[in-house]
Amino acid sequence: MPQSALGIDVGGTGIKGAPVNLQTGALLRDRFRLLTPQPATPRAVAEAIFELIRHFGWRERDGPIGVGLPSVVRQGTTYTAGNIDPTWVGCHAATLLKDCTGFTMALINDADAAGLAEMRFGAGRHCSGLVAVVTLGTGIGTALFDQGQLIPNIELGHLVIRNKHAERRAALAARERHDWSWKKWASYVTEYLNELHRLLWCDAFIIGGGASKKFDKFAAYLTCSVPVLPAELANLAGIVGAALATLPTRQPSPWTTNP
Ligand code: BGC
Repeated sequence: MPQSALGIDVGGTGIKGAPVNLQTGALLRDRFRLLTPQPATPRAVAEAIFELIRHFGWRERDGPIGVGLPSVVRQGTTYTAGNIDPTWVGCHAATLLKDCTGFTMALINDADAAGLAEMRFGAGRHCSGLVAVVTLGTGIGTALFDQGQLIPNIELGHLVIRNKHAERRAALAARERHDWSWKKWASYVTEYLNELHRLLWCDAFIIGGGASKKFDKFAAYLTCSVPVLPAELANLAGIVGAALATLPTRQPSPWTTNP
């Protein structure tokens, strides 16, 4: 098993990466951040990723590369583009990245990546049962874990509540856009978490994304019948989780005909 991997987190404003120790989750070098190119087309993002790889002088023998993207990702294809250029929809991103950089990469949804990191090294490491990691940032990302096992590509930030996608009110960016107080915004987060709980019956929520660093500003206003914990890895979770995505985690199901 490789000792380290290069983890890369593609966000709406920044593309961040660092080599990660896969046993401890520690960054092996300082994080490097580039501005996300605008428009954030697959090719433009691939070129930025290549710049990041060159910054670290990463070679194949240093370990694998994992990339978190704000999109549903299945077998290297991106299927949605909530907060990124619409040309990602239906793009075979793994092939494009290979063509642009020469590296084969493991691709994963950004919230799933953050969730993997929190469950392995952060707030979720002692949680059992059903845990939802909810990243509140530009959008809302959700990652669901059953007994520590990721159920990938759960897009519950787009749950419709009172005729709007939840992320239009409960993402951190919505608070900034509308200049809402922490109390007012927390009432939308509470409404959202309670709706999730009504549908999923989680044992705990972990709040990640930009909101995790501000948790003490709104935690007191949240009312939820299950524990709501702040993420511990803050803005590094996406990088660490993208690195973890390079590890084989799941056995193919016995019912899968085309693994
Ligand atoms: C996207 C998700 C992503 C989340 C956070 C949402 O708009 O649909 O795939 O995880 O934003 O970036």
